[in-house]
Amino acid sequence: MALVFPFHPRVTVTLLVLLSVLSLAAGGKLLVVSVDGSPWFSTQELLGILRRKGHEIVVVAPEVTLHLKPSENFALKTYPVPFTQDEMDGNARAFFKDAFEEGSFLERFFRLQEKLKILTESAFITCEQLLNNKEIIRYLEESKFDALFTDPVFPCGAILAEHLSIPSVYFARGMPCGLDSEATQCPSPPSYIPRPFTGNADRMNFLQRAKNILVDASNLFLCNFFFQPYEKLASEFLQRDVTVLELLRKASVWLLRYEFVLDYPRPMMPNMIALGGINCAHKQLPQEFEAIVNASGEHGIVVFSLGSMVSEIPMKKAMEIADALGSVPQTVLWRYTGEVPPNLPKNVKLVKWLPQNDLLAHPKTRAFITHGGSHGVYEGICNAVPMVIMPLFGDQMDNAKRVESRGAGLTLNILEMTSKDISDALKAVINDKKYKENIQRLSDLHLDRPIHPLDLAVHWVEFVMRHKGAPHLRPAAHDLNWIQYHSLDVIAFLLAVVLLFLFISLKCCMFCCRRCCSKKGRKSKSKSKTH
Ligand SMILES: *[C@@H]1O[C@H](CO)[C@@H](O)[C@H](O)[C@H]1NC(C)=O
Repeated sequence: MALVFPFHPRVTVTLLVLLSVLSLAAGGKLLVVSVDGSPWFSTQELLGILRRKGHEIVVVAPEVTLHLKPSENFALKTYPVPFTQDEMDGNARAFFKDAFEEGSFLERFFRLQEKLKILTESAFITCEQLLNNKEIIRYLEESKFDALFTDPVFPCGAILAEHLSIPSVYFARGMPCGLDSEATQCPSPPSYIPRPFTGNADRMNFLQRAKNILVDASNLFLCNFFFQPYEKLASEFLQRDVTVLELLRKASVWLLRYEFVLDYPRPMMPNMIALGGINCAHKQLPQEFEAIVNASGEHGIVVFSLGSMVSEIPMKKAMEIADALGSVPQTVLWRYTGEVPPNLPKNVKLVKWLPQNDLLAHPKTRAFITHGGSHGVYEGICNAVPMVIMPLFGDQMDNAKRVESRGAGLTLNILEMTSKDISDALKAVINDKKYKENIQRLSDLHLDRPIHPLDLAVHWVEFVMRHKGAPHLRPAAHDLNWIQYHSLDVIAFLLAVVLLFLFISLKCCMFCCRRCCSKKGRKSKSKSKTH
């Protein structure tokens, strides 16, 4: 006791009172601008902890959302949008269903682009509705927030942070068209940092590096397509000309769902925090699921989910999958809400929802069939469960490639896979010890860390609220123009000095030579005269 409180009792009491007052004063006010979709799940967990630590949280979201629902942890401010829940669900469903539709590469590319356009357009309309909603904007102006938390992929939050003059914390896996490295000023050499969607790893041959650079070039157009509308909207709303890049560069801290067990080693800026595995906090497995796992016997279970967005699969494909699942002795828990395949084997249980991470954490879980979203892949790694990955779109192909290249799972092509392919892959990851060993090694490395990513995220959000941003972490690169950043002016100057020096030396030489020659000439002339 004497060691803990080495002060006079009255001093101790004063200290305790001071501490409690300080912890009260630490309660800040955080504004969250709708991060819908699967990132919302980890955001929600983070907000729960912040709430328990005494912070006040306001989430701004459209009336129609996919996963974002009210909670006691935050006040939800909604605003109307010109589409219904059915329309939104329909669009999302159509988008994911498309991944299973066959066709040539180009056909699929254009179809995907069309669907993507619908999704990004509805996100843009949502942003427009928020910024044009006078009532909400006035409310936000009047409530003095300490910081804003947002996913920068749709830059609505960034625009709002600028308008309210509050520091912002970004939470993302990456940005479309590589805008994140531009916005953070983080070096990203295409020689060893694979670009998203290229299927490249960090060690690339000449052609792969060429592909990387071509992707960088095409990103210039893609960025324009994606962010141009926001630039116009932001300029109108803020009443001055701004670019999206300029707004994104003001972020105080980037919380990135990276981790170097899955992602390749690369430079990071001091305000970029790697938070991969943030979604792996364990809870109690619900009774009904524990009963299923207990009943599975010595063979254990397989967890199968293609994410919260895929609700149906074409029946032909679903039957093939069902057929393959029947070939293993494990009990398969399949999260699926579509029409039940008529050939569903006895060992397969269809469920509308499953506690994915808690099931994966169970020692009886033998394999995980996933679409390869970053959340799912991290849950596989945290819990050391070998994976069979069926990537559908986006970063999922890259995630799958990373897991496969580390020998911790197998990847299947969702369009080409046959029942036998699925069954072979599943049996391999369950029975071949090397997959379990590799994922166990990844898991051990991943979990050997000084602090849980969730606590790290809490720390940085509180840090930004306490210190009104983190300008000390902002690299001066942001204040340089393109010429200065690459030191082209200095190189040009030094080159000019060298050239000038060479030129003068040359002139001197020529002058000396000429004098020498003319002297010799005169001498030889005078010699010939004497003869
Ligand atoms: C499952 O098995 C464990 C260990 O045998 C036991 O503690 C638990 O109560 C069982 N759960 C259910 C729901 O049967």
